[in-house]
Amino acid sequence: MLAARSRLLRCAQQAVGQQVRWMSVDRAQMALYTETGDPTHVLRVAEVRLRKPAATDIVLRMLAAPVNPSDLNQIEGTYPVKGWFSEISCATQTVQAAVGGNEGVGEVVEVGSGVQSVRVGDWVVPRRSGQFGTWCTHTVVDSNSVDVVPREWRHGLDPLVVASLKVNPCTAYRMLRDFCKLQPGDFIVQNAANSGVGRSVVQMAREMDVRTVNVVRDRPDAEFELLADELKALGADIVVSDKKVAELKDAINGPVRLGFNCVGGRTTLAMTKLISKGGTLVTYGGMSRQPVTLPTSLLLFKDIAARGFWMNRWYLDDANSQEKMLMWRDILQMARDGRFAAQPMQRVQWSARMDVRDVQQHVCSVVAWDAGSKHAFVFE
Ligand SMILES: NC(=O)c1ccc[n+]([C@@H]2O[C@H](COP(=O)([O-])OP(=O)(O)OC[C@H]3O[C@@H](n4cnc5c(N)ncnc54)[C@H](OP(=O)(O)O)[C@@H]3O)[C@@H](O)[C@H]2O)c1
Repeated sequence: MLAARSRLLRCAQQAVGQQVRWMSVDRAQMALYTETGDPTHVLRVAEVRLRKPAATDIVLRMLAAPVNPSDLNQIEGTYPVKGWFSEISCATQTVQAAVGGNEGVGEVVEVGSGVQSVRVGDWVVPRRSGQFGTWCTHTVVDSNSVDVVPREWRHGLDPLVVASLKVNPCTAYRMLRDFCKLQPGDFIVQNAANSGVGRSVVQMAREMDVRTVNVVRDRPDAEFELLADELKALGADIVVSDKKVAELKDAINGPVRLGFNCVGGRTTLAMTKLISKGGTLVTYGGMSRQPVTLPTSLLLFKDIAARGFWMNRWYLDDANSQEKMLMWRDILQMARDGRFAAQPMQRVQWSARMDVRDVQQHVCSVVAWDAGSKHAFVFE
């Protein structure tokens, strides 16, 4: 008890000069799983005792963490990056468990005696997917497992913008740069254009004077019009239902250099037919769970290249570490200038003071595949 109190005091003392926050840093609520499977069945919220921080550790108070499709795949056990299972002390037992979530931002509330690179008050994001879970109120992690977001870059930004920076906006940023040199006036075509990546592509392409053809799943007319208006307000040039892609051919008056595929199946085939000779189809997601099938003629007579992109792989390459910071700076600058809006997400408030049974209910409803819109945990 005494040890916990003195840590509490130390935490507040270290925060002198910044806003002092009183909190217990020896306990947390976490959404964890002891085995992979349907997230609504295997994920449970538990009150846990945080491990004692080692000299190189830092203690984080999580600020925000989105729920991404890849997080659900990871909990299901179908994602190539596995959850990080470790010993976690719950109220009555110690379990081998992984904490859900790979993206998020936490504020550093305590640093170990050997930590040089991170300060109390810093905002940090996980360096790699699968290194620790972000769906928790607090956590203790190695200081080498995080990247610090410089204070001037995050200034004035909603933590949720920073929390959802690393995956979707960065995927869009890279795909627009790494496959060909797009020129002003060029077109790109993409499906799932209303997804997190899709909306980022629209806004970043607009900044590059690149025009976008945006395919979304068919829906009732009124709903389609609303969505089309929303995407056009972000900068989309053409928005079309996946049932009407073939009708578009004459509406595109410039070279379509790239196609971004997040879906697979028939939609992807229809979209690929719009890509100009010598262009590239980049697959980054498989939401329909259908394979990508391309007719021989597209490869033979139009020389369409089919490539893949995985943001995780890009981050694993240490040669990209400097470029990574430049990319984050660019995107956060765009967000601060009002040139980039993060994907709309439903905020699910989570406080360490809430009853775990209530949190459990919220968590279960937002991790269901049919949860509807995108969600993010926002921690008090
Ligand atoms: N390769 C990478 O590095 C990378 C990076 C980021 C994301 N991703 C992948 O990209 C995908 C989207 O992620 P996100 O975070 O952008 O998701 P998101 O914001 O939740 O958007 C999901 C999108 O998928 C569409 N969709 C859902 N189920 C579908 C189905 N059965 N058939 C066709 N479309 C469907 C949705 O359309 P409706 O609105 O019509 O439901 C929506 O456009 C995921 O597979 C994710 O793993 C990959």
